[in-house]
Amino acid sequence: MSLPPPESPAPLLRVDGLRIGLAGGEAVRGVSFDLPAGEVFALVGESGAGKSLTARALLGMVPRGAAVHGRVLLDGRPVTPADLGRRLAWIPQDAMSALSPVHRVEDQLSFAVRAVARAGRREALSAARAALSGVGLGRDAAGAFPHALSGGMRQRAVIAMALVNGPALVVADEPTTALDPERQEQVLTLLRERCAAAGAALLLVSHDLAAVRRHADRVAVMYAGRITELGPAEAVLDRPVAPYTRGLLASLPRTGLPRRSRLPVLAGVPPVPGTVGAGCSFAPRCPHADDLCRGEEPAPRPVDGRAVACHHPYGEAA
Ligand SMILES: Nc1ncnc2c1ncn2[C@@H]1O[C@H](COP(=O)(O)OP(=O)(O)O)[C@@H](O)[C@H]1O
Ligand code: SF4
Ligand SMILES: [Mg+2]
Repeated sequence: MSLPPPESPAPLLRVDGLRIGLAGGEAVRGVSFDLPAGEVFALVGESGAGKSLTARALLGMVPRGAAVHGRVLLDGRPVTPADLGRRLAWIPQDAMSALSPVHRVEDQLSFAVRAVARAGRREALSAARAALSGVGLGRDAAGAFPHALSGGMRQRAVIAMALVNGPALVVADEPTTALDPERQEQVLTLLRERCAAAGAALLLVSHDLAAVRRHADRVAVMYAGRITELGPAEAVLDRPVAPYTRGLLASLPRTGLPRRSRLPVLAGVPPVPGTVGAGCSFAPRCPHADDLCRGEEPAPRPVDGRAVACHHPYGEAA
C-alpha cells in the first residue's frame, strides 16, 4: 500500500452543478459527481427523474433548446464533439438507432475506426472483426446486416462499436431494456467485462436495481432532477439511508430489504419539471416529512459512507 499523492489528479469525469432547463421547467436541478477511471457508476431512479438527460448531457446530446448550466469535464477539460467516438462512447437503449440498416456490421465498425485513426481499409476491417469477436460475434455475424441479427447480437455489436476506438468512458442508457431478462443479464455482464478489459469506465443508466447491485461499483439515486443518495452500490442498495431510496427498493418485489425497513411501497408520483416547489421534492411522498423538509431543500452531505440529500436520513438520531 502506498500513500495517495499529495494532490490527486482530476477524475476522469467531473460533473459539477449540472442543470438542464426545458420548455416545461428545470428537469436536472444541480447534479454533481466524479467518476474515476475504470469505475462502473450507475444512475437509478423512477422514470422522469432526469437520468437520460444527465447521461446525454455528458456527451453534449441534450434536446434542442435545452438550457444547460454547470460543468462537465473529461480529463479536466470540457467535452467537445471531437471526444465522441474517441474518449467517449454512447450506447443507446435501442441498438438499431446506433447501427445503420444499410451497411454490414463489420463495415460500420471499420468506418468508425477510420473516422478517428489513419488506418488502411484492411487494417480497420481486421480491428473491426477483432472487436466483434471480442463480444462473441464471429465472421458470419460480423458480415451480416443488422436486421439479420437477433436483438442480443445487435446489442453486442453496439458494445463492440462503442469500444472499438478505446474510449475512456462508455455511457449506456438502459442498454438492455429491449431484451428478455436472461439476455439482459448476459449483455450487461458482457458490457461490464469488455469495459473492464479495455480499461474504460462505464456510466450505466438503469431502472434494474438488482442488476445495478451486481454490476456497479457506485450508484447515484436520482429523484426529480437531483441526486438523493450516492455511494458504494452495496451500501446504498443493501442499507439505504435516504427515504426515497428505501421506498424505491421496497417497491420492488424481488429485493430483500432489512426487516427494520417499514416504509410502505412508494405511493404517489414524482413531480414533473416546473412543478417542484420550495423544500425537499420528495416531501409530498415521504412519511418523515416535517416543516424543515417542506421549507428547505436538503443539500447533499456525508452520512454513513455516502452522500445523502435528506434532512432526516435513517440511522441518524432525530
Ligand atoms: N426532449 C424533451 N423535451 C421535453 N421534456 C423532456 C425531454 N426529454 C426529457 N424531458 C423531460 O425531462 C424529465 C426527465 O427526463 P429523462 O431524463 O428522460 O428521465 P429518465 O431517463 O430518468 O426517465 C422528464 O420529465 C421528461 O418528461
Ligand atoms: S428531506 Fe425530509 S421529506 Fe425529503 S426525503 Fe428527507 S425526510 Fe423525506
Ligand atoms: Mg431514461
